[in-house]
Amino acid sequence: MSLLKSLEYKKRNITVWNEVAPRYHKRWASVSKGPFQSTTKLIELVEINKGDSVLDIACGTGVVTKNIRKKVGNSGYVVGVDTSSTAIKIAEKWSGKKSNVDFLNIDAENFNFSKKFDIITCQYALFFFPNADKALKNMKNSLKESGKIGISVHGRGDKVPFFSNILDSVKEFIPEYVPPGSPNLDRYGTKSALSTEISKAGFSEISVKEFIFHYSPGKFTDYWDNYIKYIAKPLKEKLNELDYSKRKELKQVVKEKTLQYTKKNGKILFPWQVLILTAKH
Ligand SMILES: C[S@@+](CC[C@H](N)C(=O)[O-])C[C@H]1O[C@@H](n2cnc3c(N)ncnc32)[C@H](O)[C@@H]1O
Repeated sequence: MSLLKSLEYKKRNITVWNEVAPRYHKRWASVSKGPFQSTTKLIELVEINKGDSVLDIACGTGVVTKNIRKKVGNSGYVVGVDTSSTAIKIAEKWSGKKSNVDFLNIDAENFNFSKKFDIITCQYALFFFPNADKALKNMKNSLKESGKIGISVHGRGDKVPFFSNILDSVKEFIPEYVPPGSPNLDRYGTKSALSTEISKAGFSEISVKEFIFHYSPGKFTDYWDNYIKYIAKPLKEKLNELDYSKRKELKQVVKEKTLQYTKKNGKILFPWQVLILTAKH
């Protein structure tokens, strides 16, 4: 991606995350359901000790950061960084005033700390960085020689039907739904794609564990209505441009895809694959 395109993409992402952060926090990050069962797993796998200094990249509303703080205790230190100022404000409020937690408005591709960290984490964000290699090299430069990173990503395509059922269908009805040239958000959603990217940045002892969590968005109407309610404004506007009959057709296509996950009580139960990678400096 050219530098100009990457800057445009990042700007758009900041606007989107500033808008959706409160809803994201309420529906996902503050509730340890479905994919967010990964927070505990990530913290376990990366092996944080009391007294450690930890950097949480793209911390969002602070779910990982907050849990890390409990692990490092009062003798440790944790800093969460994110490009969304709204997400950071929520994180600060949610975590409460503590002398050993800081939240900073910083781009994962452009940071340089004077001190190095024992652990660096990054949950559900690597795929948002247009130049992920740059972000990973920054992480390596900020990690102690003895340090470790922990990175969580969603699985690819039909491994996460919560996303793919709607997105694949919407893209058939509205080809420019995702702005052309945007990086593919499931590009690290396989063990090999993820470990290849991390090894390119020079990390060693790479290990990727797969988890299948489950998530029920309720009945089909809840799944559909909440999708519309929670998506960012630019996507909502594109969906609203579809005429009534097309929208009805789209809804039916999505409904058919969910049937295989629909239980006798009418509720959908989706599997949700998550990959958690750990690696050493
Ligand atoms: C899905 S959220 C994950 C947040 C958090 N890690 C969690 O587990 O809830 C993705 C986050 O990545 C942030 N983000 C996207 N691009 C970024 C960048 N270049 N640098 C830092 N943060 C970024 C967004 O603002 C958003 O808060």
